[in-house]
Amino acid sequence: MWDGIWTNARIATMVPGGAPYGAVEGAALATQGGRIAAVMPMADLPAPPAALATTVTDAGGRWITPGLIDCHTHLVHAGDRAGEFEQRLLGATYEEIARAGGGIRSTVAATRAADEETLIAQADRRLAALCAEGVTVVEVKSGYGLDPETERRMLRAARALERRRPVTVRTTFLGAHALPAEYEGRPDAYIDAVCTQMLPAIAAEGLADAVDAFCEGIGFTVAQTERVFLAARRHGLPVKLHAEQLSDLGGAALAARYGALSADHLEHLSPEGAAAMAAAGTVAVLLPGAYYTLRDTTPPPVATLRRLGVPMAVATDCNPGTSPIASLLTVLNMACILFRLTPEEALAGATRHAARALGMADSHGTLEAGKAADFVLWDIGRPAELVCRIGPNPCAGVVRAGVPVSRGCAVTP
Ligand code: NIG
Ligand code: FE
Repeated sequence: MWDGIWTNARIATMVPGGAPYGAVEGAALATQGGRIAAVMPMADLPAPPAALATTVTDAGGRWITPGLIDCHTHLVHAGDRAGEFEQRLLGATYEEIARAGGGIRSTVAATRAADEETLIAQADRRLAALCAEGVTVVEVKSGYGLDPETERRMLRAARALERRRPVTVRTTFLGAHALPAEYEGRPDAYIDAVCTQMLPAIAAEGLADAVDAFCEGIGFTVAQTERVFLAARRHGLPVKLHAEQLSDLGGAALAARYGALSADHLEHLSPEGAAAMAAAGTVAVLLPGAYYTLRDTTPPPVATLRRLGVPMAVATDCNPGTSPIASLLTVLNMACILFRLTPEEALAGATRHAARALGMADSHGTLEAGKAADFVLWDIGRPAELVCRIGPNPCAGVVRAGVPVSRGCAVTP
């Protein structure tokens, strides 16, 4: 006996190589021990569903997709930057505001002043919005503490979110996000602190699953980023990178050299950087919410990435400055409209490729036997509808580790 079976479903497995979206129509999905036991056409079921599983759920012809994965967020932070939003609308640029001490530094001040409970409560509101749209895995970065204590507090808050919502949290240490004011003029001394104090303490406490940096004119140089990557390697942690967002420093090629899980943003990625990513298998994480909010006009080289076979993930980048957006479905729409992804590429970007960007490709991101039974039921006529509309939330139910966790179809014994 299986634990559960969902019948009469149209299943976008997102397994590549077959039908668009890996679709199996007129299908059933069985779960066992929190994992997927089988996905198959109803016609192939060896017996009536009630004889096969403890719980039978009629999906009523709904579409089922893998649980969505938001693989790049700054969900944990305090304060807001709506004032900067107003300044930008009056003509100031993101870089000017950052250089004048606003931007990331203003969120750092608010985050340092917030206790762990406050950070959890504020992040939880944003997480609730993501989960309501079918997100079952979320990555959360530190990077608004920039001191040992606040960076750890952010990561502990991120881990705590997992105990409040039916979601898997992956944490990333982003100590090299910006230069804190107390290190003004001494970026290398700050990188020393990141590599020899913060990262070792965070690794020892098991607080981070990966290490990230912001390689940019207003962030850190390639050489400084490389020092962070070497420290990550010493602690056995995989790396990711905010690369080529505002200019081309060659961060993506560096990330590829270190076998990075992903290089993210990439608006100014060079052909050489794209080739290096392709050779290394580094995922390109596209963040159209930041592109949209900053009114950027240079989209990432999607056609080149596609031609080279670089997997493209899509994420919200949910943060208070450049992407104050807690809707992954909206961002998938932006990926299509602004970056010209196909709806199938966008959905793969929030499932299969997002899993890979988090090093979770073996267990998440597609609906196939052996993977986590994390999936979403949708009131839609076809998968592209998820991406086409903005606004009405078509999520009809979320199942995590085989257990229905929100709304959902009637469960019959
Ligand atoms: O991913 N690019 C750097 N980091 C964030 C922005 C953070 C902020 O402005 O607070 C990003 O866009
Ligand atoms: Fe980011």
